[in-house]
Amino acid sequence: MARRIGICTGGGDAPGLNAVIRGFVKHAVRHHGWEIVGIEDSFNGLLSDPPRLHPMDLRSCRGLLHRGGTVLGTTNRGDPFAFPGDDGVPSDRSRELAAAVSAHGLEGIVVIGGDGTQTIGLRLMRERGVRVVGVPKTIDNDLSATDQTFGFASAVEVATEALDRLHTTAESHDRVFFLEVMGRNAGHIALSAGIAGGADVILLPEIPYDPARVAAKILKPRGLGRSFSIVVVAEGAMPLGSASDAEIRKRRIARAGGAAALAVAQLAGRIEAEVRSCVLGHLQRGGSPVAFDRILATRFGVGAVDLVAADRWGEMVRLHNGVIGSVPLEQVVTERLVDPTGELVRTAAATGVALGAEIPL
Ligand code: F6P
Repeated sequence: MARRIGICTGGGDAPGLNAVIRGFVKHAVRHHGWEIVGIEDSFNGLLSDPPRLHPMDLRSCRGLLHRGGTVLGTTNRGDPFAFPGDDGVPSDRSRELAAAVSAHGLEGIVVIGGDGTQTIGLRLMRERGVRVVGVPKTIDNDLSATDQTFGFASAVEVATEALDRLHTTAESHDRVFFLEVMGRNAGHIALSAGIAGGADVILLPEIPYDPARVAAKILKPRGLGRSFSIVVVAEGAMPLGSASDAEIRKRRIARAGGAAALAVAQLAGRIEAEVRSCVLGHLQRGGSPVAFDRILATRFGVGAVDLVAADRWGEMVRLHNGVIGSVPLEQVVTERLVDPTGELVRTAAATGVALGAEIPL
């Protein structure tokens, strides 16, 4: 009898999710002849009545490679251990989920998601005996278990294009533009896009910034007497000494957004230029993945099949030193932040970009 494997996508979407699904289904069906079942909205499709499950074959893969979002749907409100009830009171539905996995004849589930979703997968495996193989996902690129996640390159591309566009209007009006980009606690998108988009200042969560330093850098005259500046602000960036570490962390977790407005407010009275800010938001997550992400996502999909074929449940595919491999799911939860003393930060500083603090070269 053919093996029957489930697949789902959890947490925020990222460009490349559909390419993972396609890579997984194609390899699983073409090479192994497995039956693949797509589960809607993270694990929720197994808990709903009727269940929302979709048999997936080669036909279901058509047009998926370049398509943004996820055809399986996703949610970050589907933790089966604390499932939100209609009355808002969470309940533990993990046993029900494990029973549904067996009832539908699923040998295990391939879970495509970030640290939150993979942690749920690990708990399901340890506490409820549900077999899980993980595929890492986040545009933030902040999972230490893998060199890179798909979606990051696409997000950086969008942010870079936004910076290019802001440059021309900023230059025409002699304005200062603040562009807020995503990344939660990590500044990878801000740093990469800032370098690629020729920003004057890059503010990262990992380097609390001195507003006086930011003010001193902006509005330095450029060619033909024009004076304009572009500042990239990671959504988790904070001014120096504004709060204790614990407060900063709480604020970062509680809030997505507001960092550009905060940075602009810090400059009040320090500069006279006309300042505008712009929050890029979910434009960074939507739309088609760039080629790099399509390739990485496809490699992850194929890698996940190889893990299942080898019965290596409890592991997650990853990119390590340019090669697809795997790590135990336990290792997924470690956050990888920008290294303030790292080569990329130094490259920015060496080319005249101001960061939140002095960077020794
Ligand atoms: O983790 C990915 C991410 O896009 C972060 O960069 C951002 O802070 C967060 O998700 C936004 O989440 P939501 O879509 O739930 O607002």
